[in-house]
Amino acid sequence: MDNSQRRLMRVISGETLTPPPIWLMRQAGRYLPEYRETRKEAGSFLDLCYSPEKAVEVTLQPIRRYAFDAAILFSDILVVPDALRRNVRFSEGRGPELDPIDAEGIARLKADNVIEHLSPVFETVKRLRKELPSETALLGFCGAPWTVATYMIAGHGTPDQAPARLFAYQNPGAFEALLSILADISADYLVAQIDAGADAVQIFDSWAGVLGEREFEDYAIKPVTRIIAAVKSRRPQARIIAFAKNAGYLLKDYRRKTGADVIGLDWSVPLSFAAELQKEGPVQGNLDPMRLVAGGHALEDGIDDILHHLGQGPLIFNLGHGIVPQTNPNHVTALVNRVRKAL
Ligand code: CP3
Repeated sequence: MDNSQRRLMRVISGETLTPPPIWLMRQAGRYLPEYRETRKEAGSFLDLCYSPEKAVEVTLQPIRRYAFDAAILFSDILVVPDALRRNVRFSEGRGPELDPIDAEGIARLKADNVIEHLSPVFETVKRLRKELPSETALLGFCGAPWTVATYMIAGHGTPDQAPARLFAYQNPGAFEALLSILADISADYLVAQIDAGADAVQIFDSWAGVLGEREFEDYAIKPVTRIIAAVKSRRPQARIIAFAKNAGYLLKDYRRKTGADVIGLDWSVPLSFAAELQKEGPVQGNLDPMRLVAGGHALEDGIDDILHHLGQGPLIFNLGHGIVPQTNPNHVTALVNRVRKAL
């Protein structure tokens, strides 16, 4: 099937489809017993990300179960700092850890060999395109520079990204240099994923919501605009979803300024406002992952509200953030069934 005929791609091009295409952030992950099994065999989490055979397997697992309209490459946003030799580790139950970077470290960052280091990821994408059903779109992704930088500065995940916010106020020059390096690498990384067979790519700015208005402009909008401009100038057919979580009202001109084809929405975005955003182009989201954990009426009402407000325009049905590990896989079946018999 021609890439433009896949349902997800048709909506990205502005069509309204009933039922809307659906995929879920973190659709491959610990809520699936078969993922936990492959994860155990792989050894470390990064070994899983860099093993094309195993990464293909876990990417396909949710497609086999739920026949989602899109598969998302199995990897992590932190493979980029790993390629920058920041010593990324994922220890059991502790989340990611890296060597924290300071202004001197930023000045000494070496961006050579990054794309070569990430070559197993491109091999995974190539194999996936061959193995996926032809109607299933394949998404690549990267982290947005701000979100990746929050981990690089703190050396681990933080509840409010305070270390990166403070660093940016105290060292604006070094911080902007870091964002520029990450933007340039991310553009190369996304182009390579597209060349390997990704139909579209998503840029995850999971921690955009802690930024003030001025910082949102400088640290979220500017670097993402730079990535999208670079990718589209080199691959004019590239399609890009940008997800700035918790950005609220600041999403108003996010699409226009960044040039993203689709805007991802978290569950705090009011559906009336989401419908306004949808007048300017396709939107993706925005069910609260806790409704999926709860199941039953909480799940059904959440789905119905989204379809009611956004089902008459270009919509990619998704969660407002990733599936959490305690999710019952049967609730995902219920979600997919309800969305697909919609309207
Ligand atoms: O199915 C998919 O969505 C594709 C794979 C994917 C993963 N991470 C796998 C993963 C994607 C797209 C990501 C993106 C990612 N990684 C983001 C942005 C999206 C978001 O969720 O906000 C961020 C901030 C990260 C960084 C990261 N990776 C954290 C904070 C953690 C630990 C938290 C946790 O859930 O354990 C990871 C690990 C990670 N990445 C897991 C998975 C399936 C779990 C690790 C494991 O299996 O042990």
